[in-house]
Amino acid sequence: MPITPPNHGLRVDLRGKAALVTGAGDGIGRAIALAYAANGASLAVNDLEGRGGSTVEEARQLGAEAEFIPADVSRREEVEHLAAAAEERFGRIDILVNNAGVNTPGEQRRPIHEYDECEWRRILSVDLDGVFHGCRVVAPGMAARRAGVIINIASIMGVVPIRLQSAFAAAKAAVLHFTRSIALELAPLGIRANAIAPGSILTRGTTALFYNPEKQALAADLLSHIPLGRPGAPEEIASAALFLASDASSYMTGAVMVVDGGWTAGFARDW
Ligand SMILES: NC(=O)c1ccc[n+]([C@@H]2O[C@H](COP(=O)([O-])OP(=O)(O)OC[C@H]3O[C@@H](n4cnc5c(N)ncnc54)[C@H](O)[C@@H]3O)[C@@H](O)[C@H]2O)c1
Repeated sequence: MPITPPNHGLRVDLRGKAALVTGAGDGIGRAIALAYAANGASLAVNDLEGRGGSTVEEARQLGAEAEFIPADVSRREEVEHLAAAAEERFGRIDILVNNAGVNTPGEQRRPIHEYDECEWRRILSVDLDGVFHGCRVVAPGMAARRAGVIINIASIMGVVPIRLQSAFAAAKAAVLHFTRSIALELAPLGIRANAIAPGSILTRGTTALFYNPEKQALAADLLSHIPLGRPGAPEEIASAALFLASDASSYMTGAVMVVDGGWTAGFARDW
């Protein structure tokens, strides 16, 4: 399943800014962290214990100051420690990207009449509570400086749900509305809050689908819903996150940037 992402030459000026990216050890979060590093930001790289080191090394190779600060974003005390450690290391947090997220692996997905409550709690605690904790701990510092940018990584499942992912869809829809809600509260304080809703992006999880010879029928079926005919690259989400972090988006708050190859634009079908 070849993909040909375009050349990602987007340049913004993040010099002097300190960014905290959660779940930045892999996938979309890693791409966002490295894009920020390449554009001058200092980086607090968060992930679960032991999962963020290589992103830090890569960010440093790009010339950025970077520090790995482990925390489970679903746990309030750990997120409080994460923010305090990032502020101590970099003096401030100018940009927060709530990216860490989990979903139920494909073969374990169930309809609601078979849904396991533990799985519901697991997804909601990371994908929704994690976003709440992150926003809550950085907002006071941003408010004191009357400046800051929050970017919440949701999903197109929060815009248009599909079957067997009810917890994930509910969490991501909640993230979109939560983002709009806090954008209203924080705008007078000089803080912008926006969300990105990615479609199908080639990360470790989706690569296991797109490049698995036994799942090519499923992959082709999925791609038939995507007008651009391919999954996205993590760097294509990072481009949106670069724009939203920069002053180029200074009049945007409470918005959702859908980056999905056209998936949710309509039905890519003839009838
Ligand atoms: N990949 C996609 O197609 C896709 C589509 C829509 C939305 N998203 C969203 O993008 C975000 C990133 O997804 P991804 O595909 O890059 O995932 P990924 O699994 O490749 O990376 C997620 C990272 O988050 C970390 N993480 C998980 N739970 C955590 C926790 N409790 N605390 C801190 N870190 C934690 C993981 O260790 C991992 O490094 C998620 O919010 C996901 O829901 C992804």
